[in-house]
Amino acid sequence: HTHQTESMWTIKHVKETLPKREQASHKGTFGTGLLVAGSRDMPGAAILSGLGAMRSGIGKLEIATEPEVISLMVSSLPEATYVRSGLQKIADGLVDLSPYRAVAMGPGILPDRLTEQAIENILDSHSPLVLDAGALSQRNYMERPAPVILTPHPGEFSRITGVDLQELLPKRSFYAAKFAKKLGVAIVLKGDKTVIAFPDGETWTNPTGNAALAKGGTGDTLTGMLLGMLCCHEDWKHAVLNAVFLHGACADKWTETRSIHTLLAHEISGLLPEVWKSAE
Ligand code: APR
Ligand code: MG
Repeated sequence: HTHQTESMWTIKHVKETLPKREQASHKGTFGTGLLVAGSRDMPGAAILSGLGAMRSGIGKLEIATEPEVISLMVSSLPEATYVRSGLQKIADGLVDLSPYRAVAMGPGILPDRLTEQAIENILDSHSPLVLDAGALSQRNYMERPAPVILTPHPGEFSRITGVDLQELLPKRSFYAAKFAKKLGVAIVLKGDKTVIAFPDGETWTNPTGNAALAKGGTGDTLTGMLLGMLCCHEDWKHAVLNAVFLHGACADKWTETRSIHTLLAHEISGLLPEVWKSAE
C-alpha cells in the first residue's frame, strides 16, 4: 500500500491565512450564508450550526428550516433570518440561490427524497457547498464547478463510499484523499486528528481537538463554522482548514481549566471569540 504522507495544518498556517476585517467593511462585504438545518425532532442541530456560523465571520445568516424550529431558535440566535419551510421550498425550486456566498446543509435533517431533491437544486447553484449529516449520500459531484465540502465522521464516510469501517480506520488519510479525487470534493474526515483532503490531491491533518468533542452536537457546530469561514475567507481551502483548526482549538482551550467530560457543543461557539483572537 502507498500511504499518503500528509502535512499538519499548524497555528503558523492559521496565522498566515485568517482574514482581515477592514475598517470600511460592511455586512455585505462578508456575504450572506444559507444554512439548511433542523427539523421537528432535531431542532437543536439548527441552533448549534447557526451559532457556529454567526460566530465565524459571516455577514448575514439565513436559515432554511421548519416553522416549529424557527420559534424555538429566535431566543438563542436573534441575529439570523429564515426561509420558512426552506427544505421543501428549495426542493421545489422556489428559492433563488444566487445571492448566497456559501451554503451548508445537513445538521438535523433526514437523508430522504426531499433532502436529495434539495441537494440536486443546490448543486446547480454556484456557491461553495458544505454537506453534512443528513445531506451526506452516495453520489458524484464531478460536474459541479464550485467547491463541495463533505464532512463525514468515519461511519458516514463508510456509508457514502462503501469502504468497510475496519478497512478505513487504519488508513483514513489514504481513503479521504482517494475519494476526494474520485468524487471531485473536499472531504473533512472527522475524529481524532481530522483529515482534510482536497480534490486536487492536497491533504492535511488537523492537530487540534480532543475527546471533549466526542459528544452529540459538536459536528453541527463545525458545519456552521465552515459556513461562516467560507463567507469571510477569500480562499475556500483556507476557510475549511481554519474552521477545523479553530473548532478543535476551542476544545483544547476548554480542557486547560475544565474537565474533558463536560464540554457542550454550543459552548464551542462561546469559546471561539477568545480562541480566534489568540490565533490572529
Ligand atoms: N478528538 C478530537 N476530535 C473529536 C474526537 C476526538 N476524540 N471525537 C470527536 N471529535 C470531533 C470530530 O472531529 C467532529 O468535529 O467532534 C466532532 C463530531 O462530529 P460528528 O461525529 O458529526 O458528531 P455530531 O454531529 O455531534 O453528531 C450528531 O450528526 O453525524 C450525525 O447522525 C449523526 O447523530 C449524529 C449527529
Ligand atoms: Mg455529525
